[in-house]
Amino acid sequence: MKLSVIGCGYLGAVHAAAMASIGHEVVGIDVDESKIATLSKGLAPFFEPGLQEILEEGIASGRLSFTTDMSAASGAKVHFIGVGTPQQKDGYAADLTYVNAAVDGLLPYLAPGDIVAGKSTVPVGTAANLAERVTPTGATLVWNPEFLREGFAVQDTVDPDRLVAGVPAGEEGETAADILREVYHPSVAKNTPFIVTDYATAELVKVSANAFLATKISFINAMAEIAEVTGADVTQLADAIGHDARIGRRFLGAGIGFGGGCLPKDIRAFSARAEELGRGESVNFLREVDAINLRRRDRAVELVVDALGGTVFEKKVAVLGAAFKPHSDDIRDSPALDVAVRLKGLGADVVVTDPAAIENAKRVHPQLTYNEDLDETLRDADAVIVVTEWDEWRRELAPEHAASLVANTIVVDGRNCLDAAAWRDAGWTYFGMGRP
Ligand code: UGA
Repeated sequence: MKLSVIGCGYLGAVHAAAMASIGHEVVGIDVDESKIATLSKGLAPFFEPGLQEILEEGIASGRLSFTTDMSAASGAKVHFIGVGTPQQKDGYAADLTYVNAAVDGLLPYLAPGDIVAGKSTVPVGTAANLAERVTPTGATLVWNPEFLREGFAVQDTVDPDRLVAGVPAGEEGETAADILREVYHPSVAKNTPFIVTDYATAELVKVSANAFLATKISFINAMAEIAEVTGADVTQLADAIGHDARIGRRFLGAGIGFGGGCLPKDIRAFSARAEELGRGESVNFLREVDAINLRRRDRAVELVVDALGGTVFEKKVAVLGAAFKPHSDDIRDSPALDVAVRLKGLGADVVVTDPAAIENAKRVHPQLTYNEDLDETLRDADAVIVVTEWDEWRRELAPEHAASLVANTIVVDGRNCLDAAAWRDAGWTYFGMGRP
């Protein structure tokens, strides 16, 4: 099928390449000329495992192309909207400027029977508004939220755990859902749940999924706070409650909390939208979820300061991590970088290393010192703090070797990802988050 994808950021670029990889003819469209130039060469503009390969393949096959020219969308049967919905500069609500611009820009190129499939994360009610603009062209708007995780984006797009299609009522909606089934034919063939809903439900599925994940993380981080004043170990607690299938162990990783381009802004936008709907109280807990999350960054900084006797001034602190999570170079709302910046603000001589995110981090926080070499980052450090759980230090860094490089064997494990016993055995004073 001929498809267009408007917006070639994380969501759009991966979606375009993934759709070409399952046999469609896809044009990706974005206003950013340099991004389009990079993608057109078959190069991934950001770090995402597997993306480079499917971009190269798609371009070589002739099925995948990128352009800044919106008219290239004409002739496509389905037009995916994958532009960003960042947090507004002066509030919690989502900024819909890019979604509106994408839909308005597309209108002249729509033909009767086309499908406009919104994938961006939007406040509930957005699709109904957009449909008023799309319907007069004879095209149908559907809302088809995306649940991909960065770091697993290609796999999550090609083989998602569920598909959701919010469609208008009646035959028009049924036809639109069938066209989406054709688009996602490999998933449909393997009986991946395909859930057809109205617009509002589809929009809410997306934000409530992210709100639930954020809540789960903040729940365990709240337990970490209690563990810290009782001597309990939150990691064992998570293991023990996680064995209950109703609870589950995933997303119960206590540490410096969640960040990234989605969870933080999505829970805030959800709160703002609920307020507008007169139901702010229904999701009041999300403000608490946010507050718990941000407190864990303070706690990580406090652990370093306390371990160094009350001040980090002119002390070298090796910060292991900058990305908001491993397998990503994304530093948007990264708790890791926030901790680094706060330590720097307290006068520490901060050196940050990360296997993928240094270039991005440098652009936003040029005041920090970066070193690509792990050993050099650790050399003569007065304290080490792990803030992104990359395998490079989780599995591959031997505590004995690290001890031979630093000035002081103090390690704060901001992600509870190190083998505490092994580090202690190698002579380190180990501090976890919510662990004795
Ligand atoms: C999240 C959702 O997981 C995806 O399903 C969703 O599609 C995506 O947002 C989106 O809306 O686009 P992502 O932002 O890639 O995906 O990252 P996650 O894997 O959810 O991690 C978010 C943050 O939570 C990271 O900072 C991670 O370190 C943190 N986290 C995760 C924890 O602190 N503890 C955990 O146990 C798990």
